[in-house]
Amino acid sequence: MRFKGKVAAVTGAGRGIGKQIALEFAREGAALAVISTRESTIMPAADEMRALGAHVLPLVADVSKEEDVEKFVAAAYEKFGRVDVLVNNAGMSRDNLFLRMKAADFDEVVAVNLRGAFLCMRHFSRRMMKDRAGRIINMSSVAGEAGNEGQANYAAAKAGVIALTKSAARELARYGITVNALSPGLIDTDMLSGIEAPVMESLKKNIPLGRLGSASDVAAAALFLASDAASYITGQTIRIDGGLYI
Ligand SMILES: NC(=O)c1ccc[n+]([C@@H]2O[C@H](COP(=O)([O-])OP(=O)(O)OC[C@H]3O[C@@H](n4cnc5c(N)ncnc54)[C@H](O)[C@@H]3O)[C@@H](O)[C@H]2O)c1
Repeated sequence: MRFKGKVAAVTGAGRGIGKQIALEFAREGAALAVISTRESTIMPAADEMRALGAHVLPLVADVSKEEDVEKFVAAAYEKFGRVDVLVNNAGMSRDNLFLRMKAADFDEVVAVNLRGAFLCMRHFSRRMMKDRAGRIINMSSVAGEAGNEGQANYAAAKAGVIALTKSAARELARYGITVNALSPGLIDTDMLSGIEAPVMESLKKNIPLGRLGSASDVAAAALFLASDAASYITGQTIRIDGGLYI
């Protein structure tokens, strides 16, 4: 129960990694403010968190829209009075070869993955500053460090998340707020459902640990960064990739 009495805000918590992170926080005693763009996923996900004993505020909101982010922050503080941990997990991809990539697909991916993290960080950290404490965890990707064919937009956004994390870590340290990033490799979620089986097999061959990661593998690292054990860690990017990028 490392997070008893704490409040965690998690974006993109309707499924996959974000949902697993929120469930692990619930299991360890935290209350949760969670958002996703889909009511059909965030409401049942919130019920699963409640079944673990957590107080939960689920909302439908889009991280790329500032008015949605402002409503999310206001609602979380109105319900819980404080937020100790922000996990900027919401993300999406629109893959295509760079030369065929439409500008609209570039813009949308950057808006959700990078602008969304920026907006949530800015609005939550203003409140966290007053408490002189806070933990912010941003979801990057190995694609943001190594690049990836067919993912120029996504890789650029995720590289931006790392630079955003480092810059905010420098600015927010004086207020007692740490800011770190996670860089998952291939994690077994719906996001990978478009990859065909033979391609997946060849991708797996490049992973020294020989398997895809699970959402729980990523959640364990997120909870560590949010815990007291990580109080002297800021501005870092932790890879959870089975050794894919060493
Ligand atoms: N699965 C992987 O292999 C992998 C690898 C590296 C990084 N990541 C990153 O981890 C995060 C979670 O990925 P996942 O595999 O669980 O994906 P997923 O597609 O299964 O889940 C993404 C969640 O984010 C929500 N979301 C999408 N756009 C949103 C928006 N504009 N506002 C609010 N919520 C939004 C979705 O509704 C969904 O609940 C993403 O940032 C992703 O880029 C995933």
